[in-house]
Amino acid sequence: MHDAQAVRPPPLIEMRKVSKSFDGKVVLHELDFCVQRGETVAIIGGSGSGKSTLARILMGLEKPTSGELLVDGVCLSTLDRRELADVHARFAMVFQHHALLDSLDVFDNVAFQLRDEHELNEPEISRRVTEVLRSLEIQDAAKKLPAELSGGMAKRVGIARAMVAGPEILIYDEPTSGLDPMTSRTVDQLIEHMRDTYLVTSIVITHDMVSAYNIADRVVVLASGHIVAEGDPRTIFKSEDPALIPFALSSGVDPSHLSPHAKHVSAEEIRARWAKDHPHGAHRSHGFVAWLRRWKHRLS
Ligand SMILES: Nc1ncnc2c1ncn2[C@@H]1O[C@H](COP(=O)(O)OP(=O)(O)OP(=O)(O)O)[C@@H](O)[C@H]1O
Ligand SMILES: [Mg+2]
Repeated sequence: MHDAQAVRPPPLIEMRKVSKSFDGKVVLHELDFCVQRGETVAIIGGSGSGKSTLARILMGLEKPTSGELLVDGVCLSTLDRRELADVHARFAMVFQHHALLDSLDVFDNVAFQLRDEHELNEPEISRRVTEVLRSLEIQDAAKKLPAELSGGMAKRVGIARAMVAGPEILIYDEPTSGLDPMTSRTVDQLIEHMRDTYLVTSIVITHDMVSAYNIADRVVVLASGHIVAEGDPRTIFKSEDPALIPFALSSGVDPSHLSPHAKHVSAEEIRARWAKDHPHGAHRSHGFVAWLRRWKHRLS
């Protein structure tokens, strides 16, 4: 084997022949799918194609019916409860409908997970929440209730809540659905901002062709639980693949009118910056949070 191949790290996430059935109905069919650290992968597909199910499996909210899920080359089925909890702490999800708690203000919604799971002290919680609210330019909304937020603001709060515990992998479920086109482009910029600031690997589930074209390094097309096309956005959206044409036409976007995003930071660059910031690899990257989690499990 060539030296460069011998030291090449495994993909950050790998699915091997993952299937999922509900009541005997197969929703995902033997998916083989990898995500490299630093990548932004857009998963597009029609309603019911299995996108959210795929996201929930990645998050550990659903178990595959068969197949294997690996993170950093480690097969999750070989891990015990505590190790699995450590792996899942590296993921966070921005839910389509925000899933904010109505009775809590923005600050408390964002702080909720830190208070519930990480047992940090209040000054540390306050520092982290304030930092992430500032980063998303919503610090002035800290005392607002969810009912007082616009769709775009609520989306920012959803992103803040996902980011506050410092995940490595951020999964967005339909981040631009229900938003006007201008707000949708702002959300694209926020996804890039999160990636460039916190060096997260992003998986973006979307119907929005413009968004996928703008932000993705790679597009994966799901249809009826199968991956029917995969590649860089420019190639995918120029494709004459019959699986793609109806989707592209019905979205009302002419791919020939989309232009490459000049400021796109490559996955390689994010990966290199992450490696520089985490010389000991992922297992040390959570530091205090991972330690607290282990300590809590030991007591339970
Ligand atoms: N918990 C469940 N129990 C039974 N069926 C389910 C469950 N979750 C998903 N399904 C079914 O799996 C299929 C895929 O659903 P999924 O929510 O993953 O699709 P999707 O691509 O996210 O669709 P949308 O674009 O509408 O959000 C659908 O037929 C759905 O009814
Ligand atoms: Mg869905």
